[in-house]
Amino acid sequence: MTEWTILGAGALGCVIAGQLHQTGERVGFMLSERHRGHFHPNLDLITLSGRHQLIQSQPRFPEHARKVECLLVFTKAYHVLEALQELQHLPKSTPVILFNNGMGLSEQVKALLPDNPLLVGVCSHGAMKEQDWLVRHTGKGDTWLGPLNEAGKAWQHLIKPLAKALNHCEWSDDIALHQRRKLAVNAVINPLTAQYNISNGQLAEPRFKEAVEQLSDEVYQVISNLDASSAESREDFRRRLAQVIELTAANHSSMQQDVTHGRKSEIDYITGYILQHAEGIPVPVNQQLYDEIKNREMHKTKLAAQN
Ligand code: PAF
Repeated sequence: MTEWTILGAGALGCVIAGQLHQTGERVGFMLSERHRGHFHPNLDLITLSGRHQLIQSQPRFPEHARKVECLLVFTKAYHVLEALQELQHLPKSTPVILFNNGMGLSEQVKALLPDNPLLVGVCSHGAMKEQDWLVRHTGKGDTWLGPLNEAGKAWQHLIKPLAKALNHCEWSDDIALHQRRKLAVNAVINPLTAQYNISNGQLAEPRFKEAVEQLSDEVYQVISNLDASSAESREDFRRRLAQVIELTAANHSSMQQDVTHGRKSEIDYITGYILQHAEGIPVPVNQQLYDEIKNREMHKTKLAAQN
């Protein structure tokens, strides 16, 4: 049985680790240098039914990379390359599955790990960190797995244990399609909830109706222009967006949490991706949100440097 190594002990990484563990899979955490000395050996996962599931795990660090059999990357998008660079001893045969939010890293990861089987995972389970090692599974979702390079195509069998653990996992030869669809939802929910400091569910209130509509129209146009042949209809996109807002109503999006805690956000890989791929489509609302969130990040970094 393959051992799954989770890189990036964020909320979603912990939930996936817990779900895999529950179905009898071997799971371990790989921590980057930044986390050395800050590891708590017990992960407390609150399942969907409200039960506490304790997961004991021996942390691994970059020097243990030689033993990694399958790597699941849940690191924040802006840490992915740095975290992978630390794993110099990772065997060339080890499959690496990127689960990070946002888009725009594929080419750099391919250049960094030219021999490894590379895959992308797109997962819509809801997860929230209540404390450092207390994580709540807030909603069931779908998981799609697909290849990022030729070698990745040989790892389709991974969907079986993932489907058993996560309730749903399907293979897609066009995983970029699923990445774009997830990105489109994130590009509406994340910057708006961060900007107005609200929960996902509050986006359904009448006072945000216009902002949601304007932003989702811009995002829809850019995303469907990227591959018109596979584009969903505007109505389908709106329905899907409303469904995610409803299903994750109590959640605070990852970007809202990052911005309110003064951390760097994934705006460059979400709204930044939309701006870079607008190709002449007017995107003023995206631009405004991008500028405001970047400004807040910069201000927080300056304050932190002064203190
Ligand atoms: O980034 C997030 O927080 C999540 O992808 C989502 C779907 C917006 C739910 O909070």
